[in-house]
Amino acid sequence: MERSRRSIDKGSPGAGFFVSIRTNKPAGSPCMTSSDRPVRLTVNGTAHALRLPASTPLLPVLRNDLGLNGPKFGCGLGECGSCAVLVDDRPARACVLHLGDVAGCRIVTLDGLGTADAMHPVQAAFVEAAGAQCGYCLNGMIMTTVALLEATPDPSEAEIREALRFNLCRCGTHVEIVAAVRLAAARLAAARIAATRPVPSPNVEASP
Ligand code: FES
Ligand code: FES
Repeated sequence: MERSRRSIDKGSPGAGFFVSIRTNKPAGSPCMTSSDRPVRLTVNGTAHALRLPASTPLLPVLRNDLGLNGPKFGCGLGECGSCAVLVDDRPARACVLHLGDVAGCRIVTLDGLGTADAMHPVQAAFVEAAGAQCGYCLNGMIMTTVALLEATPDPSEAEIREALRFNLCRCGTHVEIVAAVRLAAARLAAARIAATRPVPSPNVEASP
């Protein structure tokens, strides 16, 4: 493939990996021939029908074709966790999944959790606890934490470390990351308690 045909994310390591399959399909490349039947999946609540081969790697589809830059390319081997997404609420590594693996699935990326103005409680906790230095691992740390706290709302430190064991942080921010997970768990627990409190009736006055 000619380099000029590639749409490369210059801000990411392994930049050559990021090829826009939809817009820069090279002529005559059998591995990039669109299939007749689209692959259907839901990403961040939006249904998509993608006319791409089932063997297309999921990560460049998310980043380049759908414009979702939350998941990051790190190792490309399923080992670092920087590309993590949720597939039917379970953390998965987008760099080693193919479109055919997730046909019919519900995918959530970091982009679908919250916004800068309305962050997900886990995102807010990572900001507050300063759980990052360069931030490259954050996508995987946050997505894995969301899945952990969904399954285990009050994890011990050992459970947090076990859940994040395969998410690599080259900056050594582990202490702050564990603190961020604990803060997120506390915030979510407080929100659950607040949500179960009865709302006072406007017809009942508080007794003195
Ligand atoms: S980029 Fe997917 S696990 Fe490293
Ligand atoms: S904060 Fe840099 S890799 Fe984790």
